[in-house]
This record gives sequence, C-alpha cells and structure tokens, in this order.
Amino acid sequence: MQNINEKILILDFGSQVTQLIARRVREIGVYCEILPFNSSVEKVKDFNPKGIILGGSPHSVYSETAPIPKFDVFSLGLPVLGICYGLQLIAYTLEGNVDRAAKREFGKALLHIKNNEDIFAGVEQDSQVWMSHGDSLTEPPAGFEIIATTDNSPLCAVRNTERQIWGVQFHPEVHHTLQGKLILENFVRNICKCTETWSAESFIENEIKRIKELVGDDEVICGLSGGVDSTVAAVLIHRAIGDQLKCIHVDSGLMRLNESEEIDRLFKENFNMNIEVVNAEELFLGELNGVSDPERKRKIIGKAFIDVFDESAQKLKNAKWLAQGTLYPDVIESVSVNGPSATIKSHHNVGGLPEKMGLKLLEPFRELFKDEVRAVGRKLGIPEWFIERHPFPGPGLGIRILGEVSKEKADLLRKADAIYIEEIRKAGLYNDIWQAFAVLLPVKSVGVMGDERTYEFTCAVRAVTSTDGMTADWFPMPYDVLANISSRIINEVRGINRVVYDITSKPPGTIEWE
Ligand code: XMP
Repeated sequence: MQNINEKILILDFGSQVTQLIARRVREIGVYCEILPFNSSVEKVKDFNPKGIILGGSPHSVYSETAPIPKFDVFSLGLPVLGICYGLQLIAYTLEGNVDRAAKREFGKALLHIKNNEDIFAGVEQDSQVWMSHGDSLTEPPAGFEIIATTDNSPLCAVRNTERQIWGVQFHPEVHHTLQGKLILENFVRNICKCTETWSAESFIENEIKRIKELVGDDEVICGLSGGVDSTVAAVLIHRAIGDQLKCIHVDSGLMRLNESEEIDRLFKENFNMNIEVVNAEELFLGELNGVSDPERKRKIIGKAFIDVFDESAQKLKNAKWLAQGTLYPDVIESVSVNGPSATIKSHHNVGGLPEKMGLKLLEPFRELFKDEVRAVGRKLGIPEWFIERHPFPGPGLGIRILGEVSKEKADLLRKADAIYIEEIRKAGLYNDIWQAFAVLLPVKSVGVMGDERTYEFTCAVRAVTSTDGMTADWFPMPYDVLANISSRIINEVRGINRVVYDITSKPPGTIEWE
C-alpha cells in the first residue's frame, strides 16, 4: 500500500466497470483501492479511507446471492457515495424502497438537477448521463432528499447531508456520462476533503524511498521482455538502488526485427544501465521443432524461458529479489459473478519463477494501472516511441507463426511485421490502434510476379482497438494504407506473395491467432 494518507475505498460488488471508478479517481489525483464487498471491517479500517464508493453490480439487492457488505458501511462516520447498485444498497439497507418490477433502463439520459450543491456543483442542467440498471429506487429512505431526476428515473440521485451519504442511479465513471469526472471530483475532493495529490512524481518519490528501505544492500534481478511494464520497473528500481539491479533479457529468436538490439541500446544509451542479453534462439527453435499445437508451443516457450532465465540468474549469487512489472488489474481480487473464467489460452509471463528460484518478489506497480505506469515511464525519461509501444505477447512470434515454427519463417514474419508497423506509423495511425501485428499463415498460394509463377506463404495483418485486451474491434484501416502495406510486403519480402486483412472482433476471435 502506498505511503499516502488521503485515500478513497471502492467496494466491488461485481460490476464490470468498477475498475473504471478507480481509474477516474486516480485521474483526479486521489489515491484509491478496490476491495471486495465482503471484506472485513478491520481490513477497511486498516486501509483508513477518507470516503467510500459503493460500486455497481449485475445483481438485484433482493436476489439470494446479492452481495451485501459484512459490516455497516454507514456507521463508520465516513462520506459514502453509492453508484447504481450502490444506490439501491443504500435504499435497501436504510429502509427506502427499491422496485424489482421496474423497466430496465440502458443508455443515455439527461440529468435534471434539483440541487446544485456539493456533488453536483458546477454540473450543467440536462447534462448527459449513462444508465444501466434493472431495479429502481421508488422511495428514498427517511432523511434523504431527491437531488436529481431523469425522465425515466424520478429518483435518480439522493442525499442525506447529515449522515454524509449520496447515491446516484447513473454511472459517473463511464465516458458517456459527460460530467461524470466532475461529479466524482466533487465527492472525493470537496466532500471527502482529499487534498493530497496522487501523481506520477509523488509515486516515484515514495517508491524510490520504499525500494531502498526494502532492498537494503541486496541485489535484485529483473527480466526485461521489451514490454513497457518491465522496462519502466527496471528504470525505476535502478534509480533507487543503481547497479544492485541486474537485468537479463532473453532473446528467444521469436522477438521482432532488431528488438533485442533496441532494448540493449535503450538501456545503455538512455540510462547507462548494463543488461545481459542471453541469445537462446537455438534452444527455443530447437525445442519447438516439429511442434504445431498452439498450447504445446506456449508451454514449450514458457518452460524454455524459465530454464534460460534461471540459469543466468543462478550466476548472481547475491540476488535476493526478483522484480516484476505486475499491474493492479492482475492483483485486484475481482468479484466474479460467474466464478473463475475458463482458460482460453495459457498466458506466459514468468509465473512459477520466484518459487523455483527462492527469491522474494519486488513489484513496484502492484497498485498501478497501465496508463499510470506509462506516466511514470515518461517522468523517468523513457522515450515516447517506447512508452506507446503496442503490447507484445510473452511467447512472441512463436504464436504468430501458425503451426510449425522455424528460423526461416521467423525471419519472413519479422520483415513483414516491421514493414506493416512502419506503414502504420507513417500514416499517423499507430496511436489510434491498440495492437497491430502480422501473422504468418501455414498456407501457400499461387501468384505471378514479373512473368514468373510464384508459390509462397500468405501473411495476415491484424489491427484492433481495445481498452484492456479483453474485448476488441478490428480497426477500419484506410484502403490506401492497406494498399501500401500489401504492395510493400509482397515486393520486399521474398517468400510471401499474398496479404490478407483480418476483420474479426474479439469475441468471437481472440486478438492473437494462437
Ligand atoms: P488474446 O489473444 O487472448 O490476447 O485475445 C489478449 C492480449 O494478451 C496478449 N497475449 C499475451 N500476453 N503473454 C502475454 O504477456 C501471453 O502468453 C499472451 N497471449 C496473448 C495479446 O497480445 C493481447 O494483447
């Protein structure tokens, strides 16, 4: 937990947008964390928040499985804001009335404000809000007044200033609620009186101090994948403990064009940090030889990675810590309605490594979201082209060469991918796309180049928009950009004679092809 005194607690009742509340509050510059609804009162008191936000939920307060806190949230003497289900929970607990038979309401509505004080200070009349609820409030609890309505919700927002409780039916955390951020800011800054500012600078300052104290004279090992999270973690830890940090980069032979060299140069030139680059191409490609099943390939790559990393790390006798770029969304104990989700793909990072190596974990970003890590990276002086890089999966090109992997195929794909990304950058589209990459298909087709017949591989190019990789839409790439990509790949990469564009969303597709 960060060394910060003024914090907001968000109780999670299972809504898919609970994390968005946390992100908005952090954007406002106030530190917050999410805890499951069934956390103990001791845990809440230990966190010591200045206010509590009750999030949404797919449940009705009347359902048998309704998530209800184990303690009386309203008697802690802290300001409370209930959002959607949170509002219904206020009414249910304090004996108002919630109508189960109400019509479901989903989408935009206009907020008619009756009272512009506190939570709605500065919010315009008829401001657009976003609704998504089944049950509705029909009678506020005693002592509550109605402070806003919409055409379909006569009790859209209520308050009890004496008890410091506010409730809104709409979702202020989503973009479609145009002044939602102002409403949350009114709550956390004006009502809860959080003045301390959470920012990239304050995080860096606190974290450097914390790492120094925690690590002392020990050595720390950090695996650099070339991804943003591990890179920013390494630079931050280096600021704290200098050359007690030992970085290892495993070149699996499945990296993008010149990637390992770029990583090495970035660290040496920009940060005067030494990293050990281990060339393990032969091992990885040897282990993958003849294997075409995607899950087996993933497992083989994961194991080879751990073996190589472990061997290099063994040489660092004084190392006691393993640094990882774990992010907050991986740490939050989400309240899932449907239980744990089925494994679609076995994701590979360095799971299992710390136990195997007997090292303690150093995870400076356990409480940060991805955009916050990027902000920290910028403040630490990491160049923008690196910070904004699209995500790249742990198994690398191994899962973008469909079927059997070989060095020849990896070289073809590296060239095609580099051209594709170069053209996207040239067209000024790189930052509009969440992830773009080329895939080599195990399909040969006939073509004609000059007067000669060709029989070569097919390359698929994919670009998606997304916010977290959980769902994605294919990107509407302009025709002229597609034309450049196709003609350059076919002209410049001997071995590929056909290019196709992937127009599959997720779901039903996944982002990667394997
Ligand atoms: P999928 O293909 O599951 O991918 O839709 C969602 C996001 O995750 C990335 N991805 C991985 N990242 N290790 C990673 O670190 C992996 O094994 C892995 N597999 C997929 C993928 O690139 C996309 O951003």
